[in-house]
Amino acid sequence: MIKQYSLFLLVSLLCFSSCKDDDNTNGPGVNDPCFSLTDIPFTASKKELIIPQGYQPINQPLDNEMTDEGVLLGRHLFFDPILSADSTFSCGSCHGLDGNYTDNLATSAGIDGIFGTRSSMPLIDLVYAENGLFWDGRAQTLEEQALLPVEDPIELHDTWDNVEVKLQRSDRYPEMFRRAFGIAENCDITRDLATKAIAQFERSLITLGNSRYDDVFIRQIDFPTESELRGFAFFNDEDDDNGAFIPDAECFHCHSPPLFTDHSYRNNGLTFFTDDTAMDIDDLGHYEFSKNTNDIGLFRVPTLRNLEFSAPYMHDGRFNTIDEVMDHYICGIQQSPTLDPLITNHCDPEDTFRFIDEQGKQDIIAFLKMLTDTTFFSNPDYQSPF
Ligand code: HEC
Ligand code: HEC
Repeated sequence: MIKQYSLFLLVSLLCFSSCKDDDNTNGPGVNDPCFSLTDIPFTASKKELIIPQGYQPINQPLDNEMTDEGVLLGRHLFFDPILSADSTFSCGSCHGLDGNYTDNLATSAGIDGIFGTRSSMPLIDLVYAENGLFWDGRAQTLEEQALLPVEDPIELHDTWDNVEVKLQRSDRYPEMFRRAFGIAENCDITRDLATKAIAQFERSLITLGNSRYDDVFIRQIDFPTESELRGFAFFNDEDDDNGAFIPDAECFHCHSPPLFTDHSYRNNGLTFFTDDTAMDIDDLGHYEFSKNTNDIGLFRVPTLRNLEFSAPYMHDGRFNTIDEVMDHYICGIQQSPTLDPLITNHCDPEDTFRFIDEQGKQDIIAFLKMLTDTTFFSNPDYQSPF
């Protein structure tokens, strides 16, 4: 099969040099050498997914259900610098493997070394993100999102017309697109199919519930330390104390288990503003998408799974450590008209319903570290194939 395919390639290349002026309008470039792929079998098989205990069933778009071949193709595209203008950058450069699929920079720089204004996001459990993507919610689907970085001047800074031609002419991709999507010839490779494959790969990045939190609180095959148990209680507490008094940290409302996000948009008190100064803040957040002034300063609630690896924290990467994040939630809350009612300071010893002391802070940190799952990074299916 491979041999026949190479023969096709050879014939087409020869044709390319001799029949250059033929009117060939199949591909985006008028003079592209197109060749048939129909000798390669198209037997894409439905991807079998493991859904961890406690996680919801998965919804997939009907026109892009995951297959083994589609996910494999998406994984190649995701890690392949062929998607960037100078072949130096891939999606994986900013959503890397050793740092929980973020680049561990406060804000991200692309191929030209220009920094954007927002911190990269960990791409985990996105199959469940049905309420918009990005910190501000401006992309609705993973397919739609994957179109954007390629042409973004501070990310991959290429054009899709150019990338389509590079993919059609590569040694690797015509066969892989054939196997994933059954295209008839190399010139059928489009941005639409490329982004579908990338989205399939992204949907496959599920955390699998292998953290200590899952062992202790979901599967109950291990025991928490005293500090972890207290941290669990703070994190999940609200006013109903049933006699066991615990100051309310209210975290779980927004960082809801098992994904540790509810994918909503909230203002967690990072930026001070008033009605008069609202439009002057550096990043308007969800307002950028909705144009509703009640959404100024609201950002998508990030997952806390594998938090230990996603520093620095918040949409602008302003905090370097989990300790700094906790200082913010305990005593750094900035007032503004859109501040979420669940967010208040916890540093007034007189306010016994809310006061969290140094030990309480360390307990919450101990609990957050239970969300670490190193098997996510060692899973060969999630790693670069190159
Ligand atoms: C230069 C660094 C960079 C590159 C390259 C890059 N990204 Fe991103 N990505 C970011 C940043 C920064 C954000 C957050 C941007 C925002 O909210 O405005 C982001 C956000 C995302 C999100 C949203 C996640 C969520 O939870 O909402 C997805 C999905 C994503 N990127 C996928 C990709 C894919 C696919 C590629 C390759 C085609 C890619 N990225 C290339 C930096 C990058
Ligand atoms: C009202 C909803 C809400 C509550 C309650 C809440 N958070 Fe958050 N959290 C958010 C939002 C929104 C962000 C992102 C804000 C941004 O970047 O602008 C965030 C960000 C974080 C981050 C940074 C994650 C990252 O990858 O950047 C951590 C850690 C965190 N929260 C922990 C907690 C803890 C611990 C509590 C309880 C003390 C808590 N949160 C309570 C909404 C909430």
